[in-house]
Amino acid sequence: MLNELHVVVAFGVNGEWSTDDKIPFYSKEDMRHFKRITLNKNVMMGHGTYESLTKIDNDPLRDRNKLYVITSDVRKLSSKDKIFTFITYEEALEIIAKETIYLIGGYGLVCGLATHVDYWHISNISEEYIVSTEHTVKHNWRTDLPLGKLVSVETNPEFTYLLYKGFKS
Ligand SMILES: NC(=O)c1ccc[n+]([C@@H]2O[C@H](COP(=O)([O-])OP(=O)(O)OC[C@H]3O[C@@H](n4cnc5c(N)ncnc54)[C@H](OP(=O)(O)O)[C@@H]3O)[C@@H](O)[C@H]2O)c1
Repeated sequence: MLNELHVVVAFGVNGEWSTDDKIPFYSKEDMRHFKRITLNKNVMMGHGTYESLTKIDNDPLRDRNKLYVITSDVRKLSSKDKIFTFITYEEALEIIAKETIYLIGGYGLVCGLATHVDYWHISNISEEYIVSTEHTVKHNWRTDLPLGKLVSVETNPEFTYLLYKGFKS
């Protein structure tokens, strides 16, 4: 079976990405959707994303197969559980070549690995579910990311789910 790289991320309708180290949305439907896509999968993320998840849950993303956390220095971290593996960016590239991976952020990593992406799963969160402050970081994801072909669009009250086939596939 061919290995694939999937990116699973969410933006607000105005490109909202993060606020004070948290995601700036509160959409239960999108959380369920995120879980459905990543359940029992190998999930990869940057150290900042991992840290932000541990602030709301000290055992984040259980029910996934493996969790890979990318850091510039694996020595300063220890794996607290068998499924938590801290890896360097170079190791991330080797893993992506061998396993199907679901990359969930941060934005810099997503941009850095964009040419390897097979599928982009993008949630566009509706205005009323966004908690935006003056610290909210926004991105022009539609122009920044090499999204490829739009495969499907699903709309529900809390968010629109856009699936793109990346240029790699
Ligand atoms: N809207 C969304 O879908 C979404 C998704 C994910 C995250 N977020 C938000 O984004 C924020 C966290 O993102 P972040 O900017 O901190 O990014 P991040 O990519 O999650 O974390 C950055 C850290 O990852 C490691 N890293 C990243 N690129 C690397 C590279 N090329 N080589 C080596 N190490 C690398 C470094 O860790 P070390 O410092 O340990 O070296 C770096 O400090 C949070 O606010 C989170 O809520 C939003």
